[in-house]
Amino acid sequence: MDRIKIHDKYFKPLITNSQIEGVIDSVADELNADFGSSGDIPMLLCVLNGAIMFTAELMKRLTFPLELVSMKLSSYAGTQSTGKVLEVMGLTGDVEGRSVIICEDIVDTGGTIMALKEMLLAKGAREVKICTMLLKPEVYAKPLKIDYVGMRIPNDFIVGFGLDYDELGRNLKDIYVLDK
Ligand code: IMP
Ligand code: MG
Repeated sequence: MDRIKIHDKYFKPLITNSQIEGVIDSVADELNADFGSSGDIPMLLCVLNGAIMFTAELMKRLTFPLELVSMKLSSYAGTQSTGKVLEVMGLTGDVEGRSVIICEDIVDTGGTIMALKEMLLAKGAREVKICTMLLKPEVYAKPLKIDYVGMRIPNDFIVGFGLDYDELGRNLKDIYVLDK
């Protein structure tokens, strides 16, 4: 894996695709253990665009019946969180009375998942679980418990496997970190 350039910045390899797949295997095992015999049909909520690859890979490994819904949020401008969470595309299904598993690419400040969980409960979801591929524990400062965490990473800006730098880099199969 080589150093790459996206827009004006350089990025270096951080997590290989096979490491990511291992992380997703573990998260899937946990979800299968928790939902496999619950008899409930949860809704998997893909938070577009960042979580698209994670959700697809995770879903392939889930062995219980589930429904898939999506919505699109936006909070980042360039490499910085703006702190404001914008709903760019509303929920594609009805969550009333349902158990919802939020699938996120990464939890940074936690603003996005906090806003999302409140919104889902306000729309009548019975239960909301949070599942994230990555977490930046140095930045996350919210009281909310994150139910499923794939991997913890340092507080550096990353791209790849769905994550972007101003919309580029989502298609990279490995994850890269900003080379300062
Ligand atoms: P939060 O609201 O601060 O937790 O930010 C969460 C959202 O910001 C994620 O869903 C990502 O889309 C985006 N984000 C956070 N950190 C990064 C990063 O390092 N690279 C790319 N996007 C990120
Ligand atoms: Mg995201």
